[in-house]
Amino acid sequence: MSNHPKFIETEYFGVYTDENRSNYYTKGLTKRGSVYGEKTYRLPGGIMYRQWDPYRSKLGACLHKGIKYWPFKEDSKVLYLGAASGTTVSHVSDICANGYVFSVEISARPFSDLLRLASKRQNIFPIMADARKVREYVHIVPEVDVVYQDIAQRDQAEIFAKNVDVFLRRGGYGLIMVKARSIDVVRDPKDIFKDVEEYLKDSGYKVLQTIRLEPYEKDHIAIIIQKV
Ligand SMILES: C[S@@+](CC[C@H](N)C(=O)[O-])C[C@H]1O[C@@H](n2cnc3c(N)ncnc32)[C@H](O)[C@@H]1O
Repeated sequence: MSNHPKFIETEYFGVYTDENRSNYYTKGLTKRGSVYGEKTYRLPGGIMYRQWDPYRSKLGACLHKGIKYWPFKEDSKVLYLGAASGTTVSHVSDICANGYVFSVEISARPFSDLLRLASKRQNIFPIMADARKVREYVHIVPEVDVVYQDIAQRDQAEIFAKNVDVFLRRGGYGLIMVKARSIDVVRDPKDIFKDVEEYLKDSGYKVLQTIRLEPYEKDHIAIIIQKV
């Protein structure tokens, strides 16, 4: 029998840890094994735990950096912008097992991997679109509980606000992973983060928490907002 950690529930719905709290895990929605090369543990009874790599997933990094607001529930509807090949989407899909993860990605190459992942998971809706052009998917995506964005573009804050305004329900939560270098390669990241925070406040959202993602991601922060 394989050696595995003792999996313990955490304060974050759908997320487990081990006795030393050194790693986080989600319970695999399917029994198909690893999605992006992450470590998996199969337990008797067909349960499988997938280790969440904080160096590959910024949401995974948020867990290690003490995120205080965890908006994901079993039946959450999530709009995920910048899905790439579905590394983080796969964990959100494990957590929101009876919900939906509307996953928007602009680039054809990662999108084909995302399609493959979605074919095995009923709660992932892959959408190939530019997240700047909400009209391209406004007929597909309903009002959602969470907007999550991980898009390295100069106008990332504007893209986020546009989607929050259209899709997020009042009281819902938004998480944006901000990459300073995509906004400006010269300015001090701290100033850029302050500007983005101000922009989100000016857009009418309540800024709940900001999280620096070092050492997992350089010059990145996560900002968590609530639409009031
Ligand atoms: C850092 S990667 C996302 C990684 C992914 N969130 C994860 O953790 O598994 C950023 C992705 O955003 C996509 N992207 C960039 N601009 C976009 C846009 N305007 N609309 C939709 N996706 C975009 C890129 O093609 C890329 O796959």
